[in-house]
Amino acid sequence: VFEKISLHVDVNGVKHNLLVEPRVTLLDLLREELGLTGTKKGCDRGQCGACTVHVNGVRVNSCLSLAVTNDGKKITTIEGLANGEDLHPMQEAFIKHDGFQCGYCTSGQIMSAVALIKEGHANSELEIREFMSGNICRCGAYPNIVNAIQEVKNGGQPS
Ligand code: FES
Ligand code: FES
Repeated sequence: VFEKISLHVDVNGVKHNLLVEPRVTLLDLLREELGLTGTKKGCDRGQCGACTVHVNGVRVNSCLSLAVTNDGKKITTIEGLANGEDLHPMQEAFIKHDGFQCGYCTSGQIMSAVALIKEGHANSELEIREFMSGNICRCGAYPNIVNAIQEVKNGGQPS
């Protein structure tokens, strides 16, 4: 039994004051304590990107981040990306371009894709593929994912 540590986080605009065991990852906190199961657990060891969320606006593999190291931080998950009923443009683009098959990798792909554009790393197909390479898709939806990202990057124009 581990001593629990107090943790204050803002998740999708909701403030949480929690007591958390130091061994709990941010991924498990989101899924198991907060019920935000949109963030997926693929490998649980930093290899697949399915667990990607934004921490203070920066993309992070939540399986590699201990929850207690996020004290005072602002977390955004796939559930927090839409604006009420309106999907985020990246979500719309993934639907339009069939950027998924089974969908298991999709939350992570979308969170990574949104961050990628903000980072300024979506300037060519090659660059997109390179900077999305931490997000694995076993279904091989990569060409459609690239198309979706390029459309959002180009302000809604198909590439
Ligand atoms: Fe985190 Fe695979 S579950 S990288
Ligand atoms: Fe199935 Fe990517 S859509 S793993």
